[in-house]
Amino acid sequence: MLQNSYAHQLLDGLTKDQLYKYIFSELPENKAYYQKSMNQTVNAVMEHLESRDNPFSGASVQMLKSRFSKVFIDDTSYGSSLHEVLDELKELYLNDAVSFHHRKYVAHLNCPILTPALAAEVIISSLNTSMDTWDQSAGGTLIELQLIDWTLNKIGYPVNSDGIFTSGGTQSNMMGLLLARDHFIHKHYNIDPKLDGLPHDASKFRIFCSEVSHFSLKKNAALLGMGQKSIVAVPVNENFQMDVNALTESIEYERSKGNVPIAVVGTAGTTDFSSIDPLTAIAEVAETYKLWFHVDAAYGGGLMLSDKHSHKLDGIELSDSVTIDYHKTFFQPVSSSGFFMRDKTHVDYIKYHADYLNPKEQEEEGLPNMVKKSIQTTRRFDALKLWMTLRMMGRRKLGQYIDDIILLAQQTALMLRERGKFEVLNQPEISAIVFRYNPLPATKTDLCGVNAHIRKAMFNEGKALIASTKVHDQVYLKFTLLNPLTELSDMEEIAGIIEEHGDHYYRNN
Ligand SMILES: Cc1ncc(COP(=O)(O)O)c(C=O)c1O
Repeated sequence: MLQNSYAHQLLDGLTKDQLYKYIFSELPENKAYYQKSMNQTVNAVMEHLESRDNPFSGASVQMLKSRFSKVFIDDTSYGSSLHEVLDELKELYLNDAVSFHHRKYVAHLNCPILTPALAAEVIISSLNTSMDTWDQSAGGTLIELQLIDWTLNKIGYPVNSDGIFTSGGTQSNMMGLLLARDHFIHKHYNIDPKLDGLPHDASKFRIFCSEVSHFSLKKNAALLGMGQKSIVAVPVNENFQMDVNALTESIEYERSKGNVPIAVVGTAGTTDFSSIDPLTAIAEVAETYKLWFHVDAAYGGGLMLSDKHSHKLDGIELSDSVTIDYHKTFFQPVSSSGFFMRDKTHVDYIKYHADYLNPKEQEEEGLPNMVKKSIQTTRRFDALKLWMTLRMMGRRKLGQYIDDIILLAQQTALMLRERGKFEVLNQPEISAIVFRYNPLPATKTDLCGVNAHIRKAMFNEGKALIASTKVHDQVYLKFTLLNPLTELSDMEEIAGIIEEHGDHYYRNN
C-alpha cells in the first residue's frame, strides 16, 4: 500500500531508491550513499589542498562571475551526480577559494583549523543536533556545559558564573551590551525592558570603549536601540591600549553633559594591533562608577591556552562578561564562539519559556535549559569541535601554537624594522603587526597610494595575502599571524614581495 502511494508520487522516470537515497537515514542504500558521498567530497578537498601553491589564485570578480553565466538552478532538471557537482564546484569556487590554511595567508583574523575539529564537523552536521533543549541535544548539552565550565575556570570567574556558545564575537558582544543595558535599566528604572521596552532617556546611555575597539560594538549599540552615539571612543596610548585617565575624563565629561554612563568595554586583542587594554585598571574605574565591565577577548581569548602568555589577560576575571572566539585563536572552524557572564542570574534578562519548547516544568525537573541563555533558538553543536580538539590534543599543544605565533610576530616586527623600507607602528602583544612601506621617510611621497597599491596588487597576484587598515586616515598594511606553520622565512619572502610591488610603484609614478 505504502509502496504504491510512493510510486504514485514518484517523479517520472525515477525509482524510489533514486528519489530517496539522498536522505540521511539508517536504510542500507542511504548509508552507502552517505559514505560514498563523504569520501568523494573529502577527495575533492584533498585535490584542493594538493593543487594550491598560493593562498589565492588571483581570480577577478569578473572572471568568477562569467563562470556563473552558464550555471542555472533549473526548475525542470533532475539534478546531477555528486561527481558532476563537485567538478563544477572546482570551477565556481574551490580552485579560486581563499586558503586560510596557507602559510602565506597573513591577512585577516582567520586561523588555520585543526583536523580533530573537522572530524567533529562531520558528526555535527550529520547528526544535526540542535542545542536549544535537552530533548533535542541530550549528551551534547553536557559536552557544551563542560566546555563552558572549563572556559569559566580559565577566565577565573566564581562558581555562580555561566556561559553559552554563540555564532561569533559579534553576537557575543551583543549579549554583553544587552545584559549591560538591561541590568542598568533594572537597577535604575521602575520598568522591565523585556516587557516595557527602553526608558525614554535610553538615547543618553553611554558605553565606553577604546577608539580601536571592534566595530561590532557600534553596530550592536544601534541594534539594541541605544544608537551608535552611545559608543564613546576613548583615546589610546602609544601602545594602542585604552588610556585609563582618558576613560575617567570621558565618563566625567559625558556625565556633565547629562548623559548616562552604563558600561565600559575593554578589548583583549584589538583587531588591528592585537593590543590589550589595561583590564585591571579599567575594572577599578568600572567599580568606581558602577558600570558594567565587558571584555571583548574575541582575539585574545586564546592567550588563556598558553602557560607563557596567559598573564596578559590578568584582570579579565574582574569583568561582568566576556567574549571569546574559539574560531580565532583556538584554531576552530567557523562558527565557534562563546559568551560568559560572572553572575548566572543575569541570564534572566533574556530568558523566555515556550510551552512547545522549554516549559517551566522541565527546568523544575532539573533538565538543562540552554535556549534560555541564548539569543538564538536552533543552535549548532559547535562545542563538539572544541571538545574533540581538547580531548585529542590537550590544552598545552594549543598553548604551544599560541607561543609560536607570538614569537613569530615579534621576530617579524623586528625583521621589518631591520629591512629599512618599512615603518612599523606597533610591537605585537599577540600577533598583529601594522606597518607601511616607506623607504624614503624624509621625502614627501604618496604613502597612501603606494600602500593601497601594494595590498591590491598582492591580492590580484595571490602569492601571499596581507590586509590593510587606516590609522589617522593613512593607509597601512597589516599582518595577522595565526598559522603556527608559518616561518620567519615565509615572512621574509612576503616582505620581499611587498618591497617589489612598492619599488615598482615608485619607478612608475
Ligand atoms: C576584537 C574583535 N571583537 C569582535 C569581533 C567579531 O567577531 P566575529 O567576526 O566572530 O563576529 C572581531 C572580529 O575580528 C574582533 O577582532
